[in-house]
Amino acid sequence: MQGKAIHVQAGGGYERVLVGQSQAAAPRAGEISVRLHASSLNYHDFAVVSGMWGPSEPRIPMADGAGEVIAVGEGVEEFAVGDAVVSTFFPTWLAGEPQVEGFATVPGDGVDGYAREFVTAAASAFTRAPRGWSHAEAATLTTAGLTAWRALMADGGLKPGDSVLVQGSGGVSVFALQFARLAGATVIATSSCDAKLERLRALGAGATINYRRTPEWGARVHELTGGRGVDHVIEVGGPGTLAQSMEAVRVGGHISLIGILTGLGGELPIIPALLKQIRLQGVLVGSRAQQQDMIRAIEASGLRPQIDRRFALEEIVAAFRYQESNRHFGKICLEF
Ligand SMILES: NC(=O)c1ccc[n+]([C@@H]2O[C@H](COP(=O)([O-])OP(=O)(O)OC[C@H]3O[C@@H](n4cnc5c(N)ncnc54)[C@H](OP(=O)(O)O)[C@@H]3O)[C@@H](O)[C@H]2O)c1
Repeated sequence: MQGKAIHVQAGGGYERVLVGQSQAAAPRAGEISVRLHASSLNYHDFAVVSGMWGPSEPRIPMADGAGEVIAVGEGVEEFAVGDAVVSTFFPTWLAGEPQVEGFATVPGDGVDGYAREFVTAAASAFTRAPRGWSHAEAATLTTAGLTAWRALMADGGLKPGDSVLVQGSGGVSVFALQFARLAGATVIATSSCDAKLERLRALGAGATINYRRTPEWGARVHELTGGRGVDHVIEVGGPGTLAQSMEAVRVGGHISLIGILTGLGGELPIIPALLKQIRLQGVLVGSRAQQQDMIRAIEASGLRPQIDRRFALEEIVAAFRYQESNRHFGKICLEF
């Protein structure tokens, strides 16, 4: 099988992105072949494609992939031809505690990803997609959806009545808001933009804060929670937001260290972490079993992802430029 594919040359950089072809072999035992139809953009994919963390060798980018099974290898019982499937972020982390350090096995970074029409891979590198979802919708789950799910449900042990703070209106944060609401938690959301704050309220945020107008938003979160602080923080900002997150969280609360939107390193205020006995948990997406749990919850609840815009596969650079502009709300997808 031969089809269209995006290739990023070694080192990355938008000027080194080429539209070409790639081959997929017939599936061997334990493998499936998939006609991919969609991917979705994440900051990590941006880092690879833009050259911020460019690949050391030519690479097909994109960690998220969704499509239809077109052939199954010997011994594959989980999938049949025609099934709608979605890729997993860690093809080798199937279940249990975190097992993989870094990105060496991650599609679109250490190995070829899903900016292509055809792929043959281990059946365990995919799960079933939510019933009734488009391929573009399913493609939002691999990275952003699962990160939010794992942070709140697996690491956080979220309970009805808990309170969650989500930062900004990007892919991970909007999913976190949706999952928190679906579990009966209350949400405080921040954004730089009042129009986006309105959309976050429409999705169920009980309170919102413009983090540009209120840079000391941690104190405002305290007021909003009657002085207690929130149970969970979805920390996507990184060094520029962590101190406020630590202010916002309750004694013994949980902060999921997820993002690096404001930089890669900085000072960790250790004293408040100790005094408040905060649980700071590093997160790198999640396991295949967590993805299956998430999809079961999605099917039971009727939740749908927020897709802001869709681009064709060949428009991948334009799609990343749009992501860089921060005008989006939720996810940006490639459809092909
Ligand atoms: N560790 C993991 O497993 C994992 C997985 C997925 C993503 N991530 C990381 O999480 C971060 C978010 O990813 P994403 O895919 O959700 O990105 P995204 O969709 O591009 O989200 C960008 C949004 O973040 C908000 N933002 C930017 N700076 C902010 C700040 N200082 N304070 C609060 N919000 C801010 C902005 O929202 P407004 O426009 O509303 O202000 C912006 O639109 C990235 O750093 C990414 O690398 C990590």
